[in-house]
Formats: sequence, C-alpha cells, structure tokens
Amino acid sequence: MELAGKVALVTGAGSGIGKAAALRLAKEGARVGALSDTESEVQQTAKEIKQSGGEAIGLTADVGNAQAMQKAVEVLVATYLRLDIAIANAGIGGIMAPIDEIEPEEWDATINTNLRGSYLTLRYAVPHLKQAGAGAIVLVSSINGTRSFSDPGATAYACSKAAQLAMAQMAARELAKHRIRVNVICPGSIATSIEDNTFSRHADRADIRVEYPEGQIPLTGNQPGTADDVAELILFLVSDRARHITGTPVWIDGAQSLMVG
Ligand code: NAI
Repeated sequence: MELAGKVALVTGAGSGIGKAAALRLAKEGARVGALSDTESEVQQTAKEIKQSGGEAIGLTADVGNAQAMQKAVEVLVATYLRLDIAIANAGIGGIMAPIDEIEPEEWDATINTNLRGSYLTLRYAVPHLKQAGAGAIVLVSSINGTRSFSDPGATAYACSKAAQLAMAQMAARELAKHRIRVNVICPGSIATSIEDNTFSRHADRADIRVEYPEGQIPLTGNQPGTADDVAELILFLVSDRARHITGTPVWIDGAQSLMVG
C-alpha cells in the first residue's frame, strides 16, 4: 500500500481518467476526495471505493467556481484532517469551432473548466500540502496544445492544455522548497466519456485533410489507451518512486503525438 496514510483530492473523479485514478489511489491506501460537478457520479465512485475496502467521500463542485472549490477542499480536510495529493483532472472538450466562429462564452466555458479549474484546484489544495510538509500534484493536460496542434477547431482546448503545462512548471519551481512535486501528464486518445462534453460546429472548415491509413496510434494498431493506463502513470507520479521527478510533462499516447504533431 504505497499511499497508506495519505489523502488525495481527484477532480473529475466521476468518469474516465479521474475515476480510474481515484480507484487506483484508493487501492494503494489513499483516502480520496472524489470531486466533480455531478453529485450522482462522485457518490458512485466513493461507493465503489468503499466496496473494495477503501475510504472516500464524494465532493460536488464546479471546478471553475472558486467558492465551491474552497468549500469542497475544506470539507475534505475536515473529514480526513490532511491533504497530500491533488490531481487536477476535470476537463471538457468544449466547442470545437473555427477561430472566427467560436463565441466568447464558448471560449470562456472551455477555459473556465480546464484552466481556471486547474488553478482553483491548486489554489485551495496547496496550503494544505504545505501544511503536510510535502506533497504531490498531477495536472492532466493533453497531447493537444503540448505536442499536437492538428485537431480542427480545438484552439480553446489546446490553449487550456498548453497553459496547464506552463502552470505545472511554474508551480514545480515555486513549491519545490515546500517538498511539493508538480508534474503534468499529456494523454493521447483515451477511451472515456469525454466525447459527451465535446461538440463540433463547422470544425471541418478549420481542417486540413491528412490521411493515416494505418491509424494514428502506432503502438497499439490504432487502439486508444485506457483510463487505467493513465491511472497507473498518475499513481507512479504521486508515489515515492517518483521522488526526484518534478516539473516534468509525460506524454502517454502510444506515440500518437509523434505522428500528428
Ligand atoms: P470524462 O468526460 O470521462 O470525465 C471528465 C470528468 O470531469 C467527469 O467526472 C465530469 O463530470 C467532470 N467535470 C467536467 N466538467 C467539470 C466541472 N466544470 N467541474 C467539475 N467536474 C467536471 O473525460 P476524461 O477523458 O476522463 O477527461 C479527463 C481529463 O483528461 C480532461 O482534462 C481531458 O482534457 C483529459 N484528456 C482526455 C483525453 C481523452 O482522450 N479522453 C486525452 C487527453 C486529455
């Protein structure tokens, strides 16, 4: 049990990568605050963790809402009396549209969840990590905006993901003296529910057609990765096995970003 005694906050823990990470960290002994903006899904994640012998609570908050995030972190720390790990994972694809068609409020919606949400997660988690005397943070970015710039209409998404990489590197430097490590992971195509939060409007108008007859993920013969693949990486990065790794992006994509970047 690598994470015995630790407490972890995982945002976007109702589905996909966040849910897999919450379950994986709990299996290693972490007590988990499973957060998303959908009460039923985080209660389900907490229930599954408890059924497998772990400890968890569901926390409901929009990651872009400062008051709600502050309250959620307070509830987590009041419950388990400490915080050691924060996974800033909640995110949406948002509206994919040409730059001269995406509306300001659509731009804001993607940035608010993906970028402001990551900032607010760190904003309210970091004081408790400092208090614990050490800690580990992982931000879930993407190949989009870090190595790959080819998804048509994905400018808002790619900008939010590029900024998460910058945030992780700034925070890694700033928090090193508090023994808090900050890393950022950049998944390629992973089988999750993200398509439910991704909408295309005339994105084809922003496209340049490129064909990959053998697919874009050479390692797997074009099969997407799984949320469990990504959860293993998150576990490694927050564990003591990664004790000298900070400020580092890790791409987890079966070489997809090397094909389409
Ligand atoms: P998902 O849709 O399966 O899970 C997203 C989770 O975030 C859900 O629990 C959802 O309720 C929650 N969420 C969404 N908006 C929220 C908000 N405003 N406040 C609180 N919770 C919110 O998606 P997936 O794929 O697991 O995405 C997780 C992260 O992985 C995202 O940051 C995404 O950008 C990133 N990612 C995903 C890839 C993929 O192919 N699935 C590839 C690269 C990065």
